[in-house]
Amino acid sequence: RKNLVIAIDGYSSCGKSTLAKALAKKLGFIYIDSGSMYRAVTLFFIRNAVDMADNEAVIDALQHIELNFHSRDYQSHITLNGEEVSEEIRQMPVSESVSEVSANKLVRREMVRQQQRMGKSKNIVMDGRDIGTTVFADAQVKFFMTADPKIRAERRFKEMRSKGDTTITLEEVFENLAHRDYADTTRKESPLTRAEDAIILDNTALSEAEQLELALQQVQDHL
Ligand code: C5P
Repeated sequence: RKNLVIAIDGYSSCGKSTLAKALAKKLGFIYIDSGSMYRAVTLFFIRNAVDMADNEAVIDALQHIELNFHSRDYQSHITLNGEEVSEEIRQMPVSESVSEVSANKLVRREMVRQQQRMGKSKNIVMDGRDIGTTVFADAQVKFFMTADPKIRAERRFKEMRSKGDTTITLEEVFENLAHRDYADTTRKESPLTRAEDAIILDNTALSEAEQLELALQQVQDHL
């Protein structure tokens, strides 16, 4: 492929999006947060009480969903049918249902199609769970991120608190991450797994600057 694709996969709250945004900014690439797409679909399914067991209903719902990204400073701002939902999709109701929705074959097929279209001709950094294995199996650079589960929960907890969520507890965040990791790695449709050619990045003890430095070294040869 002519355009450069950097794929970043890994467990929940491993710092994928932080690294992806930093890389995109540094390189002038487009950043696409694939998780936000599954989250926005989940929000639509919750609001419209879509029955996941009913294929017809799922197909119909997908036809009524339009997702768009508005990139401001490489933050991922996503709209669902024109409505800005970036904040709402990070809250617990969506986090609790997203792994069920993202395990659905029809949902995945549609999201992968849209993601592949976005990365067809432009230089991009995309993060998610199946980017290096499925969406862009031919990506030139792939990272697989991990970090200690406790550290991950603490980071996410602090982030949610700082955004004004006063009711959430650390235990709830920890449970949600554990649940999503389990669901994401054991599902039938493109489960989370490391692509053979993905570079492992364990950021438990690495600063954001160190991660960016390590990642840039890998990208350098492809520029
Ligand atoms: O990345 P984030 O944690 O926001 O993703 C939310 C959920 O979306 C994940 O737990 C996973 O179930 C799903 N997802 C996925 N494939 C992707 C990105 C996210 O299944 N490429």
